[in-house]
Order: sequence, then C-alpha cells, then structure tokens
Amino acid sequence: MARTDMTATEIRQSFQDFYKSKGHEIVPSSPVVLPADPTLLFVNAGMNQFKEIFLGARVSQYKRVADSQKCIRVSGKHNDLEEVGHDTYHHTFFEMLGNWSFGDYYKRESIAWGWELLTKVWGLPKNRLWVTVYKDDDEALAIWKEVTDVDPTHILKFAEKDNFWEMGETGPCGPCSEIHFDRTPNGCTADMINAGKQEVIEIWNHVFIQYNRRSDGSLEELPAKHVDTGMGFERVTSVIQNKTSNYDTDIFQPVIQALVKASGHPYEGQSAIAMRVIADHLRTLAFAIGDGVLPSNDGRGYVLRRLLRRAVRYGRKIGFTRPFMTPLLPTLEATMGKAYPELVQRRQEIARAILAEEESFSSALDRGLALFEDVATAAATSPDKVFPGEEAFKLYDTYGFPLDLTVVMAREKGMEVDEKRFAELMDEQRRRARDARRAAAADGDADLVSDLVAKGVRTVFTGYSGLEGAAGVVAIVQKGAEGANAVMDQLAEGAEGALLLSESPFYAEKGGQLGDHGVIVGPAGEFEVTDTRQPTEGVVMHVGRMKRGTLAKGARVTAKVNDVRRAAVARHHTATHLLQHALREIVSRDIKQAGSMVAAERLRFDFAYYQALTAEQLTSVERRVNELVILNDPVKTTEMALKDVQGSGIIALFDEKYGDTVRVVSVGGYSRELCGGTHVAATGTIGPFRILSECSIASGVRRIEAVAGLPAYEVMCQERGMLEGLAKRFSASPAEVPDRVEALAGQVKALEKQIKDQELAVALQKVDGILGQACDVKGMKVIAATVGELTAEALKSLAEAVLAKVAPAVVVLGASNAGKAQFIVLVSPEWVKQGVHAGKLIKDVAKVAGGGGGGQPGMANAGGKDPGKLDEAIQKAKEIVGTMVKG
Ligand code: ALA
Repeated sequence: MARTDMTATEIRQSFQDFYKSKGHEIVPSSPVVLPADPTLLFVNAGMNQFKEIFLGARVSQYKRVADSQKCIRVSGKHNDLEEVGHDTYHHTFFEMLGNWSFGDYYKRESIAWGWELLTKVWGLPKNRLWVTVYKDDDEALAIWKEVTDVDPTHILKFAEKDNFWEMGETGPCGPCSEIHFDRTPNGCTADMINAGKQEVIEIWNHVFIQYNRRSDGSLEELPAKHVDTGMGFERVTSVIQNKTSNYDTDIFQPVIQALVKASGHPYEGQSAIAMRVIADHLRTLAFAIGDGVLPSNDGRGYVLRRLLRRAVRYGRKIGFTRPFMTPLLPTLEATMGKAYPELVQRRQEIARAILAEEESFSSALDRGLALFEDVATAAATSPDKVFPGEEAFKLYDTYGFPLDLTVVMAREKGMEVDEKRFAELMDEQRRRARDARRAAAADGDADLVSDLVAKGVRTVFTGYSGLEGAAGVVAIVQKGAEGANAVMDQLAEGAEGALLLSESPFYAEKGGQLGDHGVIVGPAGEFEVTDTRQPTEGVVMHVGRMKRGTLAKGARVTAKVNDVRRAAVARHHTATHLLQHALREIVSRDIKQAGSMVAAERLRFDFAYYQALTAEQLTSVERRVNELVILNDPVKTTEMALKDVQGSGIIALFDEKYGDTVRVVSVGGYSRELCGGTHVAATGTIGPFRILSECSIASGVRRIEAVAGLPAYEVMCQERGMLEGLAKRFSASPAEVPDRVEALAGQVKALEKQIKDQELAVALQKVDGILGQACDVKGMKVIAATVGELTAEALKSLAEAVLAKVAPAVVVLGASNAGKAQFIVLVSPEWVKQGVHAGKLIKDVAKVAGGGGGGQPGMANAGGKDPGKLDEAIQKAKEIVGTMVKG
C-alpha cells in the first residue's frame, strides 16, 4: 500500500534516512548558482556540485552521498518553462532527491536500492511502475530482471534522447535508466511511456556516469564509473500522496489556497493555470534571490525578471492590479523554510527584491497590455495572423515584456509571434551577450584544461606558509593567435603563455583575491608571472612571459612570489573581512557580500542592501575598521567540515563552491568567514584604512571602494596636499581654511546681490523712456520696445514695472543678453479676456529672431539666436497683436 498519509516533509526525510542506512553521507543542497562553473546558468541537477569529482579533478571526502538539491530549469539544455502551469508536473524550480556513488557502487546497488525504496519503504504498487534502459545497456536490463521483481514486460529500451543523460553541452554524462509511474485509470501500455502524457510520468532517473562530453562533441572515458540519480521530489510526492497533479500536494496547496483567498477566483480553468504559474515562479524567485541573485537586465538576473513579469501578468488574469506576490511569502516560508532556512534568513531581501520588481513593472505592464491588444486586434485581421516582430520588440524594449511572455499572450489568441524578425532586431545585443558568454566559458580552454586534468596535471598549493619553493614544470601552454592556446614542450624567450608546476606558492585568483605575480626561475631562463589563474580545481596556470632564456617541460625551477605585492593584497583582503564585519555591526546584520575584488592597490566590496549608506554610517564604518586595526587582533585559519558550517554563524558566500572541508578565517573573536585567501597575521599590519566611495551598481546592490596600508596613507597625503594648497591661496593656516571659505562664500553672495540690484536699477531707469513708446491698437494700449542689454530677471522686472504703470495694456519687450535675443510678453487680464494670448504672440515674435517659445495667456518668455533682429521682431509684435482681439 502506498504511504498516502506521508507529508512532503516526511517523504524528503525518509529518502535521506533510507540512503543514510545504505552508508551515504547526507550533504546540504548547493546554492542554485555555481559561478565557478560558467557552462551553467543555474544549478539544473543534483550532480552539478559534484561535476569536478566525476571529472577526476577533485577527490570527494565521501564515496557515497545523498541530498535534496534546489534546481532551476529555465534555460539551456534542460528548460521546462513553456510547460509550467499548463501541465501539472513541470516546474521552473524543483527539488531533486539524489544519491551518488563516486567510483564506489554501480548499477546493481543503484537499481536494487531504488526499487526497495519505491516499493517497500513507500509502498508504490509494482504494477504501476515501468522502467527504461539505454538501448545498448543490456547490463542494466539484466540487473533489473535479476535484483528486482519488476514486471519484465515493463522494461523498455530507448535511444539517446531519453536514456542517455548529459549535464549540458559539455560535461559528465552516461547511459541512464528511468523509472516511470502510471496513473491512468486502467493501466497504461508501453507506447505511453516517454510520450509526454501527464498520466504517465518519469519520477526517477539513475544515470551511470562514465564519460565527459567535450566541446568538440566527442566522448571521453572517465577514470572511474559513478552513479548519479535524480528523483523529482514534487512528482514522487504527488505519486505517493495519490494526487494527479504536483500542485495538489501539500508542497503547493498552501500557496494556491492563499491565492484563491486573495484573488477571490476559484482554482479552476484559466485561473488554475495562472495560479500554478504564480506558485511555481514564486518559488524560483524566492530561492534564487535567497541565494544572492537579483532581478536585472542580463544573465541570471534577467531570467528572474522574466519569471517575475510572467507571474505579474498572470496575476492580472486573476484580478490582481497591485503587487500581490510578497504576501504569499510567509506561506511559502511555512511550507519550505524548515528544509531551507535561507528562505527565513533572507526573508527581507527576498520580499524587498520581489516587491521592487513588481512595482516597477506594474505601470509598464498596463501600457504594454494596451499596445498588445491594439496590435493583436490588427494582426487578427491580417491574412497570416502573425504578431509582428517589430511590435514584440517594442513590447520588449519599451515595456519590458520578455519575448516568451508576448509569445504566451499571442498564443492565447491563436497567434504566432514573428520571432525571426524579433531575433534580427535583437541580434546586436545577442551577439554581444554571446561573445561575452564565450569569453567566460573560454570554450577552447575548457578542452585544454580537461586534457591537462586527464593527463594528471595537478598543482599542490604551498603558498599559505611560504612564498618561495622548488617545483617541477609539469606542463607548458603557449598563447597563440586569437587566444588559441597550445600545449608545448618548451617556451622560447619572449613567448607568452602559462606554466603549470607540480607545486607552487602562487595564489591563483579566487574568491575576489587577484592572482599572485612573481618569477619562475629555471636552469636556462626566467619566466615572469603577471597573473595566476585556476581554471579548475587543482590546475594552476602561472600566466606571463619568458623574460630571459628558455624553459622546458620537466625542468626544476624555483617559484618566487612577489612578496611586497602579496603583502599589500593580504592587507586589503583582511581589511575586506573587517569591512564586512563593521557593516554588519553598524548598518545591518542582514548585509551579505555579493562580490568582492581584492588587489594590491585597493579593494572593492559589493553587498546586497536596499539603500545608500549615509555619510554618518560610512564614517562610523571606516572608523570601526581602523579601531579593529589598532587592536592588532590575530588572524587565524582553521579547517572544518562543510556540514558543520550551517548554523555556526560563520559567513559563507552564497555563490561560492566549497569542498567537503572548508577553511575558516577568523579575526579576533568577532569575524569568521569561509575563505581560501591569504591574510595578514594580525590586523595591525593592515595600517590605515580609508573608504573612497559608496555607490549603487545594480538594483539593491551597493559597492564600497576602499584602500588600506600605504595606498590609504597616499590618499591622506593627497588630501593634506590639497588642504595646504588651499591654505596657501588664502595665506592662512590649514585650520583657518573652513572659516575663510565660509567668508568667501558670503562675499560672493553679497556681490551677486549688489549686481542684481544695480541691473534692476538700470532697467527701471528705462521705464519712462519706454512709456513714451505706447501706442494704441484697436483701443488697446500696446507697449512694444527693445531695451538694450539686460539679464532675464531684470527684463522681467522692467516689464512688470511698465505694466504696473499703464495697465490694462499689452507689454512686449525685447532685449539682448549675452549674445542672444530674449523676449517677454505680459497681457493684462482684461485683454486676455478679449483674446490676446501672450504665449501665442511670443511664438511668432521670437521666430523672427530665430527662436521659439510659448507660455500662458497672461505671461510668456522666449529666446532667440539673433539679437540683430530684435527691432524687426518687436515691429512684428505691433502688427499681429491687433489681430488677436476678438470682434
Ligand atoms: N542528473 C540526472 C538528472 O538530472 C539524475 O536527471
């Protein structure tokens, strides 16, 4: 009997208990992003965090592990976005229950235990289970028959598409064996397996990893064979709980019921689709933001933005016109916060980011929807019923409608979007993005690096304790044209490339800390290292140039790190930890690092925070760091198991990839961070610390730039030099400068006022002369005159003074001002009533002097390029003012 009474939480727990009983270590889920792997936008399978172990680049502490992994499938090889909401079993975010063998057990145990868990522990009916194996994998087929009592007619063979699993375009892969569950009323037939039916779904995939797919498409045999399984948690829960939809389980129902309540719509028909989409996208957003990704305009951030905008638009369908997502978060937390405490810890950031995005899209959405309706109505009458690509692009570009949203909306109207045209319009941006991605993935180098790994190239890092050491050259890479690098046996004088050593004190760029510089001295030459990089775990590339002589593979060399530079970097690195600590102490406990750059000259620290820091906060933070420096607290490093980190209060980065054992850097008793970087031995060595700037670099992300040690001293020297220079100009002491500046500002203000008064006096002297020029136009007193050179303000005062003396009247004055013409027109209310309009009048007048302008009926200003035309313009005023009077 299926254990229909189990809750989702109990099911997750029983999976872990089962594999623990089979000798597996239960490990935490990795974050949903692994930036160390540029081939991957989001974690899309449980095995991602173990990729290097499969490829032989890293040795795992455990041979058997199991976990429940947060996965996002919205792009790349595994992308389920289009199905989400429309069916009942695809999600953009889901949990993958998995168990792994790293070169330990293989097909037999994997299959036997899988069957035991499903049928004995969870009691799933055997006649409802179907099994698939890869077409050439007779071994797996035989094992199924031997170690389980699955109905032999329920074992089917499939080709690559269904039964050969690959992580992405490159990476670990192998044949797989899937388990499907049949929930048709009367039992399904073989042709219904893998046919995209929601009644017959795959629940578990056992992959037998034995190859690495290289970027040229070839398969490379791995040094060992591994097991990688992945079970859709939401699917298996729906099967165990005997539901026909994942959304009917206790994983989704609380949020769906909250939506029913808030919207007043029942969970059925189109509304049900909308609610499923929202419930799904909400999870992806919350978990991704919880792991440090924020909605933005490119990359991962744009995936989030797309999802959010889709959700908001589905929200409109069930009547939400105001932001509605954040009120759902407490419900989500209640269902998932125990298993994933980051939802609770990062509650504020998640809510803030979602709300800000919803608000910013809301108004554009309404205008975009209106445009969409207009275009769709027109397109409906066109012969081909295609929604034009230009309009889809406009919706994208102006109103922020992701293409997939426009496609969904068009589809609802039975229309296709001209995606080809859209793609053309996007081409420029696309090409740029692609180039950038390529650069990041460094396709060519990925193969070169996996060749090096396959050849057993590994570098032991010795640089925590020493900066100089003997080593052997194990590989040489020469830089070729356009970045085409090649493995060589020797490097000639002047050649650029990289050396790989058996051991090395050089620190490779990692965790924001830039790579070491230095020299590698061999028997016949010297190589200058200008950067050190680590493309994958254990492979360290000393990048630079053969400065003198030659170097050959196998040579014994001495590797010497530039110690002055290393010490400067260390100062900035420890200062970064102190800065983070001070920010958390003074500004907010919630501050989390979003990125950093640690160089010899300066440091950069990015963190998630929703508003600018005040000047007082910055001063306090800077001061606090300097206080901690003076305390000269010791900096210590220790190692611990990753699993002990959770809940220990140690700061870990969301997007960093950690091994089973991690290095903890602690300063005094107050700062503890997971960090592989190099640090000073005690804070006093850091020297002075100065913050240079604080700014925003993306929505919700702030950046502080700062300097420590000598560079900080330099900044202070510059500031002192500036102050001394100023003091000299004032012939005063530095301390007197502020008072002098204050006094100077007062003087300037007084002089400005004096000038203004004088200008006004000059202007007002002209009043009488101007009054003499009054004339009568259709019984209306009109004064139109040019008045020489005046500022705009003086001209206005003059016009007002004139009008005050002769009102009711129309006053039109022209003056030159700094080489330009300017006009003012004032019309008394009596004449406004009669149809005279200052704004219209000035438009025609200013035109004469090469200008334009407008204004209110009673008063208008305008400028013109040509002061030589002032008289002509004023003449024009006299001519046309009469035509405005009614009757
Ligand atoms: N890595 C395998 C999958 O994602 C288990 O299906």
